[in-house]
Amino acid sequence: MASQKKPRALKGIFSLDDFQRAAQCLLPRAVYEYVAGGTEDTHTLRENRAVFADYLLVTRVMRDVSKRSIATALFGEQWSAPFGICPMGLSALSAYRGDIALARAAHDFHIPMIVSGTSTIRMEDVIAVNPDAWFQAYLPGDLARTTPLLQRIKAAGYKNLVLTFDTFVGASRENQVRAGFSTPLRPGLGLAWDGLSHPRWLAKVFLRTVLRHGMPHFENSFATRGAPIISASAIRDHAPKDHMDWERFSLIRESWTGKLIVKGLLHPEDCRIARDRGADGIIVSNHGGRQLDGSPSAVRMLPGIIAALEASGPRVPVMIDGGLRRGTDVVKALALGADFVFVGRPFNFANAVAGESGVLHAARLLKDEVFRTLGMMGYNTIAELAHARADGAMLCV
Ligand code: FNR
Repeated sequence: MASQKKPRALKGIFSLDDFQRAAQCLLPRAVYEYVAGGTEDTHTLRENRAVFADYLLVTRVMRDVSKRSIATALFGEQWSAPFGICPMGLSALSAYRGDIALARAAHDFHIPMIVSGTSTIRMEDVIAVNPDAWFQAYLPGDLARTTPLLQRIKAAGYKNLVLTFDTFVGASRENQVRAGFSTPLRPGLGLAWDGLSHPRWLAKVFLRTVLRHGMPHFENSFATRGAPIISASAIRDHAPKDHMDWERFSLIRESWTGKLIVKGLLHPEDCRIARDRGADGIIVSNHGGRQLDGSPSAVRMLPGIIAALEASGPRVPVMIDGGLRRGTDVVKALALGADFVFVGRPFNFANAVAGESGVLHAARLLKDEVFRTLGMMGYNTIAELAHARADGAMLCV
C-alpha cells in the first residue's frame, strides 16, 4: 500500500485534467505527445470529450441515499468502482516501471487494470504485483506466433484476455512524428535535448530505468522479447495484419479457456458478431482518438449497440472507454447502458506526476465524483442507473 501522506506533487490536483497539465511540464515533448495526442485533425479526440455535453443529469432529492455504494460486479468480481485502467503501451516511458505502478495502485484500490501488449515490462512481472490484472494482446499477423503468445499469457496466470481489433490497419500518427516520437525512438540531437530539458524525467524515469534494468524492450508483443525502445536501426515487427478476419477470433476462442474480451468495436453488428462467436465481453472504443480520425465516440454508439445485442440474443458485459474524465461522464455512460468503463490517459499522467500515489489519487478523485453524482441523482446503487433514462433522470439534448 502506498504511503497515506500525500506527495507534494499532488497538492494542486483536484481533478483528472489537473494531472495532464502537471504531466505536460514534466514529460519530454515526444513522450507527452505520444500519450496526449490524437490522429490527424483530432476530430475524434475532441468528440470523445464533447459527446458528454449532449447528456444532462437531473437531480432527485429526499430519497435517503445515505447507504449508497458504487461497488460494481464484473466477470464474477466485485470491484470497488465501475471503472478500470485502459491498456496503454509504453507506460514505463511516463513513469519509472510505470506498468508496475499502475498495477499496484489498481490492486490497492481494487479496480481492474489491463496490461498492454506493447508494454516494456514483462507481463509476468506485472501479474506478480496484481494477480487480478487483465492482459491485452495485439494479435500477431502470423498464426504461428499467436499460439506461443497465448500459451505465455496463460502460463503467466492471466484469466481475462482482451484482444484489440481496431489497429489491423495502422493509423497515421503524424502528431507523434512531428513531436519526434517513434518506436523505436531514434537517437539524435532533438531527442537528447528533449530529455535534457526535462531533468526530473531524465533522472527519475529514464536513467533510473536504464541503470537498474538495462535498455527497455517491447516485452509482450510475442512469446519472445521484441525490439529495444531506443535504437538507431532496430525495426519493430510490423508484419501485415490487415488480412485478419473473424475466423481468427474463432480459432482463439477455441483455445483460450479464460474470459475473452474484444476491444475496439464501434459498429453494433461487429458487437453482435463478437458475442455470437463467443466473446465474453466487449469494450466499445475508438482507441482514444488514436486510430480513425472521424470515428464516433463509444458513448455515441452505445445505445445502438445495446439495442442490437438485446434484440439478437443474450447480453454480454458492454464496457466503453474514451474521454471519460469526470464522475458525471462515468454515470452518463452507465445510464446509457454500459456495464463498466475504462479510463486511459489520466492514469498515465497521474503516474507521471507521482507514480503509484498519483494513480491512487486519480482513482480516489474519480470514485468520489461518481459517488457524489449517484447521490445527487437520488440513487443508491450503480445498477439503478440503468433506469435513469426511463426515470427521466438523464436528458439527451
Ligand atoms: C493507448 N491505447 C491502447 N489500447 C490498446 O488496446 N493497447 C495499447 O497498447 C494501447 N496503448 C495506448 C497508449 C497510450 C499512451 C494511450 C493514451 C492509449 C488506447 C487505450 O486503451 C484506450 O482505448 C484510450 O486511451 C481511451 O481513451 P482515454 O481515456 O485515454 O481518453
